[in-house]
Order: sequence, then C-alpha cells, then structure tokens
Amino acid sequence: MELTIKINNTPVQAEPGELLLDVLERQGIRIPTLCHMKGFFPSGACRMCVVENEQTGKLITACSHTVEQGMNIKSHSARVIEARKTIVELLLSNHPDDCLYCVRNGLCDLQDLAREHCITERRISGAKNRHHLDLSSASIVRDPAKCILCGRCVKVCSEVMEVSAIDFINRGSNTVIGPTFNKGLNTSSCINCGQCIMVCPTGALSEKNHFAEIRDALNDPTKTVVVQYAPAISVTLAEEFGMAPGTDINGLLNAALRKIGFDRIFDTTFAADLTIMEESAELIHRIKNHGHLPMITSCCPSWIKYAEEFACDFLPNISSCKSPQQMLGAVLKSYYAEISNTEPENLYVVAIMPCAAKKFEGQREEMTQRGISDIDAVLTTRELANFIRLFGIGMDKLEAETADSPHGVRSSAGKLFGASGGVMEAALRTAYFSVTNTELPQCKIEQVRGCTRRKEATITMGDLTIGVAVVNGLSNAKTLLDEIRNGRDDLHFIEVMACPGGCINGGGQPLHKNPEALKKRMEALYQIDETETIRVSHQNPEVLALYQNFLGTPLGNKSHELLHTSYCQRNVLL
Ligand code: SF4
Ligand code: SF4
Ligand code: FES
Repeated sequence: MELTIKINNTPVQAEPGELLLDVLERQGIRIPTLCHMKGFFPSGACRMCVVENEQTGKLITACSHTVEQGMNIKSHSARVIEARKTIVELLLSNHPDDCLYCVRNGLCDLQDLAREHCITERRISGAKNRHHLDLSSASIVRDPAKCILCGRCVKVCSEVMEVSAIDFINRGSNTVIGPTFNKGLNTSSCINCGQCIMVCPTGALSEKNHFAEIRDALNDPTKTVVVQYAPAISVTLAEEFGMAPGTDINGLLNAALRKIGFDRIFDTTFAADLTIMEESAELIHRIKNHGHLPMITSCCPSWIKYAEEFACDFLPNISSCKSPQQMLGAVLKSYYAEISNTEPENLYVVAIMPCAAKKFEGQREEMTQRGISDIDAVLTTRELANFIRLFGIGMDKLEAETADSPHGVRSSAGKLFGASGGVMEAALRTAYFSVTNTELPQCKIEQVRGCTRRKEATITMGDLTIGVAVVNGLSNAKTLLDEIRNGRDDLHFIEVMACPGGCINGGGQPLHKNPEALKKRMEALYQIDETETIRVSHQNPEVLALYQNFLGTPLGNKSHELLHTSYCQRNVLL
C-alpha cells in the first residue's frame, strides 16, 4: 500500500520502505550527497543530504531515512541550505587549498558543492591534520590530506572487491582511511583495481602517473616508442571529449596516437586473439589430459593478485597464459624488435589500458625477458585523454586512421574482451572450432553476455559438453570459488574479471555519473562484433602469420617461453 508524504507542500505517493532520497529524485529534486552510493547500505556519514522534516522539526539525512506517512519534507529551506553549506565549509576547513594542482581539479564533488553553495571564502578555519602522501603502490596514489572520510572506498573495497585493503583507522579528529597500521598500500592486500578511485569524490585517490616517463621517452632520439591500446579503450575514450557513452572512435584514436608522436601503433586486441589461441588450446589440453579444472582465465591482473593472496588453492586452476597486454609486450620485445632491427632495450613499449592494475602487472618480475621489462609504461584511459589535450589535438578535426601492421589486425572476438563474458565468448568460438573443425553455428553466445554479476552456460562441442561460468566483481568470484570448494564439479572453464562489468568499467576509465554509460559501452562492443567480418580469433591473418613465422604452434616451446607464466602465493599484511 502506498504512503502519502508531502514534498515542499506537494502531496507525493511513495512505497513503504522507500528512501527519501529516491522519492525526491523521482520528483526531479536533486539532493547533494557525498557518502551515498546507490545499491549500498547507507552509512549516513557525511550528512550532506540533510532535508527538513516539518512534522518533527528535525533535519534528517535523505539517503538513510525511509518515508513515513504524513511527512512534510522541505528539500531546500533556508535552514537546510545553511546546514549543507556549513558541512561543506567544515570539510574545507581541514582540506588543502591546492585545487589548481589537484588531479581532480574540475572533477571534484567537494569543489562542485563549494561552488553550488556559493562558498567563496574560508569562514571556518582550524589546525589542519598532517598527512603523508602514499606513493608506495605501483598503481594507486593516496593523498589522505584530501580525504573527507566519506567511506565510499572502504565499501567498494570490502563489498565489491572482497579485499578490505583499506579501512577507517583511529578515532575522532585523528580518523584516517588507510591500510593496516596505516603503512604503504604496497604492503597491503590491495589488488590495484582502482575501483576506489572511481568512487572517491575528491583527489584523495588517483592512479600512479606515468606521464613524465613517456614524455621523456618520446623526446629521446635513441628510443623507438611504440604503443598498444586495449580493446575497451576505443568505446570509452570518447566520453572524455564530450561524446556519448559507447561512441566507438577507434580510427580517431589511431590518428591521435600518431599525432602525439608514437613511432608505431598496435592494437592489444590482436594480442587478445593470440591469448585466445593459447587459452583455448590450454583448455582443451586440460580437459583431454585430466588437468586442473575448472580452468580460470588470467587476463585480469587484479584477479591474479587476489588469487595469490586469498585463493592460493586455485592457483593451479589459473590459465598459464599471460594477459594480452603482456603477450603483446613479449612479442614486441622479441619478434618485432628482430624484424624492425631494434635492440629490445631501445624499444619503449607503452600500453593504454582501462585498468590501474595493469601498471602493477607491467612491472611484475614474471613479465621480463633477460632482465628487460616487456612493458615500460602504462597509461589509463583518463591519462591518455590528458595526453591528447596536452598535445593540443582536436579530436573533432581528425580523420580516422588504421593501426600498424603487423600486430594491428584484430577479430571482433578479441574486441569482446572489453566486457564481462567476452574472453569466455571468444575462447568458446575458437575451442569449438578446434574440437569440431567447424565454426560455431551462431557466433553470439547470449548466455555469457550482459552486465549480470554471474552468468553460466553449458556448451556442447561435438561429443564434448562443458560447463562455463562468468563472474565479475570479486565478491561474486569468491561465492563461486566457495561453491567449488564445497564440492561443485560441473564447471570446466571460468572467466573472472575483478571490476563490475569488466574492463569497460575498469579503474582507469573515464569517471562518469551516467548510470547508462556501462550498458552503452558494452553495447558498442557487441555492435562491433555484429558488423565486422573476422569474428573469430583463429581467423586473424596476422595471428596466423605470427605462428607461421615465429611462434610455431599454440602451446609450443616458443609460446611457452614468451606467452605463458605461473604465479605463487603472496604474503601481505591483511
Ligand atoms: S585499488 Fe581496489 S583493492 Fe586497492 S584499495 Fe582500492 S578498491 Fe581496494
Ligand atoms: S579516500 Fe576518497 S572515497 Fe575514501 S573516504 Fe576518503 S574521500 Fe571518501
Ligand atoms: S550522502 Fe547522506 S549522509 Fe552522506
């Protein structure tokens, strides 16, 4: 039965149990929030969303109060506006004044709220807490001085990622957010996913910047600087330049990278196809030879670090394939260096990734050849957008260009890697071909598509029937792993992506507030798959040529040396 409440003296219907914030939003009334995140249990920590309940005369938080019969809510009374303004002023009183130099300048919720509340001078001042910048992580920079203690990062880290690398430490005015013993993030269980960056309303969390190194390399005449970009980038970068979510600007991306001055431009999707060749062969080999099953994908570096710390019992199940970023890095520093007459140490490889954890992955010891790292620097999508702005490149004035060959041709199956379920779909297309010598009658495998947190399917390939599962968000991965620990045995292959929705929602992607953005990005990848001619990795002519000219066969000696690796238990402060 519906309730009737009044909002600013207008009667409004609401469902019992509905949050005031949702009812107000439905009426088109925007209430400012800081700690609130849709879908999470409200903490009521910041009090930014206060409204006035005329029935009781109290100020209450709209994000944590449900509707009650007879309420008369004033959403923007003078008292409410003054209370919100004071909250912002109190936050600013303990906040650095270096907005001009802040990584979130122009993209900061606190800055927006100060502007909205016409705060133009410091009215409340007091002693500011002293904090240290934490630069210890390979991927994430923490600036606790800019933290407003909203707790959003803590919730994402524990509830979505199941990691709990950070939490509230100390009490009262000494409260900070940090890892165990407030040590560097590098000593913690942090898996570098960057999802905390995505929800932080201020500049307290950001990715480790590789800007300066890349600029130096571009200016160094002894270096050949090549770049690769991940499958998801072409459908997310556009948002940084005011285009609609899901706009595919692959051709403009190539043109922009050339204008920046990269010597060669390669598509990581080529290496996604290479990964599929190796991974599908590995899956079939494991099934036929009673290897460790279910086999679990290895493309997501956050998932790998999570497994090293929290799920060591599943390390033998993880595919030995390196991720596409690392496979392409290894091929570039060996095969490409050879055919282009470049010394590997003079070949500087930049990867543009949707992901903060790729910065960590790129500097892992396992990802080197004779002491030379396969990847030299990683830029997130957001950092690339800054690079494009720095070089004054007008995206609207560019003509579409193609990537360079070899290593620039791709299938649309590889492109699907950008969304949850994509690695699975691409691998199943090729595994089907390997087992039956015929193409899958319908390329599209609907059961593994979409934003749902867990997807499952049973696939028949000739006389082989396999169970597959796709999970995104590590809390969902943990639930599935627990089922397997408890005896579930019908699965042969699992895809795990740490970030909800997969790489299209990675921790390095454009910060957005559009709830539809994720769906649009995913649809864009599916659209590419509908329209392109090469839809399976095993038909990528450049991948086939690489095997013929250099690698030999999938799982062969050369592939093992360059494209495969293994992981072991990692001890961290929990
Ligand atoms: S990067 Fe991921 S794991 Fe690390 S603190 Fe942030 S949310 Fe937690
Ligand atoms: S680091 Fe950011 S998300 Fe975390 S509590 Fe501080 S302000 Fe909030
Ligand atoms: S947004 Fe409601 S208390 Fe923080």
